[in-house]
Amino acid sequence: MERGWLHGEGFLFCLILHLLLQGSADIFTINCSGFDQHGVDPAAFQAVFDRKAFRPVINYSIPTQVNISFTLSAILEVDAQLQLMTSFLWLNLIWYNPFIRWNPKECGGISKLSIATENLWLPDIFINEFMDVDQTPTGLMAYVTSEGHTRYDKPMKVTSICNLDIFYFPFDEQNCTLSFTSFLYTVETMVLGLEKDVQEISNISQNLIQNKGEWILLDIRQTMMKMAVDDSYYDQITFYVAIRRRPFLYVINLLVPSGFLIAIDALSFFLPPESENRAPFKMTLLLGYNVFLLMMNDLLPDTGTPLISVYFALCLSLMVFSLLETVFITYLLHLVTIQPPPMPRWLYSLLLHCTSPRERYLTAPQKGNKGLRLTPIQLPGLKEPMELVGKVPGPQEAELNGCPESTRGQQEDEAQKQHLVSLWVQFSYMMDTLLFRLYLLFMATSITTIIVLWST
Ligand SMILES: *[C@@H]1O[C@H](CO)[C@@H](O)[C@H](O)[C@H]1NC(C)=O
Ligand SMILES: *[C@@H]1O[C@H](CO)[C@@H](O)[C@H](O)[C@H]1NC(C)=O
Ligand SMILES: *[C@@H]1O[C@H](CO)[C@@H](O)[C@H](O)[C@H]1NC(C)=O
Ligand SMILES: *[C@@H]1O[C@H](CO)[C@@H](O)[C@H](O)[C@H]1NC(C)=O
Ligand SMILES: *[C@@H]1O[C@H](CO)[C@@H](O)[C@H](O)[C@H]1NC(C)=O
Repeated sequence: MERGWLHGEGFLFCLILHLLLQGSADIFTINCSGFDQHGVDPAAFQAVFDRKAFRPVINYSIPTQVNISFTLSAILEVDAQLQLMTSFLWLNLIWYNPFIRWNPKECGGISKLSIATENLWLPDIFINEFMDVDQTPTGLMAYVTSEGHTRYDKPMKVTSICNLDIFYFPFDEQNCTLSFTSFLYTVETMVLGLEKDVQEISNISQNLIQNKGEWILLDIRQTMMKMAVDDSYYDQITFYVAIRRRPFLYVINLLVPSGFLIAIDALSFFLPPESENRAPFKMTLLLGYNVFLLMMNDLLPDTGTPLISVYFALCLSLMVFSLLETVFITYLLHLVTIQPPPMPRWLYSLLLHCTSPRERYLTAPQKGNKGLRLTPIQLPGLKEPMELVGKVPGPQEAELNGCPESTRGQQEDEAQKQHLVSLWVQFSYMMDTLLFRLYLLFMATSITTIIVLWST
């Protein structure tokens, strides 16, 4: 009797428990009889559709977990002026809806159904950096499984604000952020999670983007954080998208032509300074370079000062310098051949020092083409104070001795003048070489600096 009572008690308890459990399970289970014969019965899902205005949870103090994943399929444009990156991505959202549940065995083995999204509750995930109207197509579908997992995929053209640094253009790398967060639900009602490992997202996106467009996807990283707005916290997942520009187009269109022009400019120093072609040649180069700059203006970013602008300015100033140098040397040559000014003693000794001994011995007989007789006079003739002292008796002697002597004096004067001219010419050549070396030195250092800056 006792045993029976106990047994009865236990049976009753079990029955109640079973009924309770069964009941709670049954309330939301969709009766799908006939799905395999007549198709899905909309009435069976009506209870679910009616609840779409509310967050699908049984206990409202439990937050909904929404898992996020995306595939970056293209980087369409990076606008340095507006600081915008336009990309294309497929966003996947996965969450659990406890009101959708059926037994696949009773439903002709159907375990997955697609349902039009306008009938379902959707999480309001958006991207913080988004700077455009959402152009997501309407009328998309979502997949629901017999366990209530809902998967919603949508394509998005994302125009996101991004802090772009174009200093290293065209060898620049950018680090743009995409922060996914809920528009309304605080952390008490919605938590975000990752559907896939971020490395996997990165790998898939890299494979997709690989051979497309101007930008290469380097890496995607991710951090989770809670964003505080007023007193509430919002769950947020931030993805860092690191991209690098393909510089090939810019190297071909900007750096190579500019490099060629500056190389030709440097080579034009080998045109003899007394030739009339040097200045016009350099002028043409300068004009050509200006035209090139005007044409290439469109390719350059509009804001900021990238290093490449500095490089262009440098090339331009080198060309201007080389033109000015040519003008100066031409002027100097003209001046000294028409009316050579007396040469200061220090300059003369400097010339003697600087020109190599071989050159000095070679030039001396050439210049004094009247013969060896003139060479002893040349040296004192150039040292002005001595020249004056030595020259004073010269004309007197010539007057006394008559014509032959005076012509000889004139010849000597002429020779001395010619020698002075030749020295000045030599000086001009030296100046030319010196300035050319300075030019080369400046060019080499500045271009190396820029290349070093670019490669870091
Ligand atoms: C499911 O619905 C059919 C008719 O639509 C009904 O005959 C059947 O009893 C229902 N099953 C359950 C478990 O409620
Ligand atoms: C709802 O969830 C909260 C927190 O998990 C729990 O304390 C509470 O008992 C739950 N309510 C019901 C009716 O299960
Ligand atoms: C979301 O991801 C977490 C792990 O990150 C997992 O435990 C959870 O079941 C996922 N939720 C859904 C709805 O897939
Ligand atoms: C991503 O790709 C790299 C090599 O490209 C590989 O080593 C790594 O295992 C991949 N990671 C995932 C999660 O697929
Ligand atoms: C992008 O910037 C964030 C923070 O500024 C940093 O944590 C992340 O490592 C950067 N990513 C790359 C690839 O440099």
